Amino acid sequence: MNKNIVCIGAGYIGGPTMAVIAKMNPDRKVYVCDINAKRIAAWNSKNYALPIYEPGLVDVVKEVRGKNLFFTTDIKSAVKKCDIIFVGVNTPTKMFGRGAGRASDLQFWEATAREIKGYAEGDKIVVEKSTLPVRTAAAMEAILNDSAKYRFTVLSNPEFLAEGTAIKDLLSPDRVLIGGPETLEGRAAVREICDIYAGKDGKWVERYKILTTNVWSAELTKLAANAMLAQRVSSVNALAGLCEATGADIDEVARVMGADRRIGSKFLKAGPGFGGSCFKKDVLNLVYLCETFGLHTAAEYWSGVIKMNDHQQERIVSRLFKAMFNTLANKKIAASQRGARPARDYRSQGNREREARPCGA
Ligand SMILES: NC(=O)c1ccc[n+]([C@@H]2O[C@H](COP(=O)([O-])OP(=O)(O)OC[C@H]3O[C@@H](n4cnc5c(N)ncnc54)[C@H](O)[C@@H]3O)[C@@H](O)[C@H]2O)c1
Repeated sequence: MNKNIVCIGAGYIGGPTMAVIAKMNPDRKVYVCDINAKRIAAWNSKNYALPIYEPGLVDVVKEVRGKNLFFTTDIKSAVKKCDIIFVGVNTPTKMFGRGAGRASDLQFWEATAREIKGYAEGDKIVVEKSTLPVRTAAAMEAILNDSAKYRFTVLSNPEFLAEGTAIKDLLSPDRVLIGGPETLEGRAAVREICDIYAGKDGKWVERYKILTTNVWSAELTKLAANAMLAQRVSSVNALAGLCEATGADIDEVARVMGADRRIGSKFLKAGPGFGGSCFKKDVLNLVYLCETFGLHTAAEYWSGVIKMNDHQQERIVSRLFKAMFNTLANKKIAASQRGARPARDYRSQGNREREARPCGA
């Protein structure tokens, strides 16, 4: 087995993650592939006009691009050259068909599995980097291993970075999660991926922060972690409404609640609710999974997190409207962002899927 790595999907996850993997593993070649030629051209641009803005990203790319990090549209030869394949393609919410509006659309992911199978010329470790519904690895294994020519071992290594602090999060993560099958092969594959995150000469993530689980736990943990964070935002916003009705001050309530170490102070800022590309998608996916497994009360519980978020956005718009004497005519409104995510600009796509609410005039 060689040490080379390819990542399929040069997006928000693939690009920064692989740049940091290449930086911390100078003895490995890392290829990042995409079907989107424009995106690859931007990653390769001479003036470092990268398709994504993250503080510190340009410096990392400058350090490793062309040395041991390569961006390419040639997926076929990259898959041939590398025995470790990360898959970081997009998994948006399904827009039509069964599960529309809740389930993940896995068409990009399935196409990737078929590409890998078509191009591989040896055994491979395939690592799910995208956020996927629990038990997706079983489907991936079924596609990849349906002919006995080569052996594919599928692991789950979900990414916990936040947009705006991606490089900091990658260089110094709270934890890295690697889930694999509980077989000899599975355990060996997990050790290979642990070595990547430990970095050359063990200079990257401390071993105690690299957590290993079975593959289903790893797949579910990513959805669960995002659902818990989204739930905190909805909970504090639910309390904000009550504070306004009673004369209590939500900032004071949150400050005192957060001083309790059992609660903690993060994600307790009342505001217009969560947007971004992950929370809503991942909570909806969790709702769909609960429904699929007949856990209707749990599905309703997690739906409440989204319902509260929608309600908060409506409530904020109503408050604004009321404060402006119920008319927006000839008024200019400036919005400043003061959320959980710092430094961003338009190129970062950090505002993608931020919701715009119609508010009348
Ligand atoms: N953005 C985040 O902050 C974040 C954080 C954690 C996890 N995730 C998860 O990571 C996954 C990827 O998210 P992203 O934000 O990087 O998405 P993205 O849309 O920025 O990038 C995905 C890339 O995959 C490429 N792609 C799709 N099909 C392909 C194929 N068959 N072959 C080659 N390339 C293909 C697309 O062209 C695109 O450039 C999602 O599952 C997401 O939920 C995202």
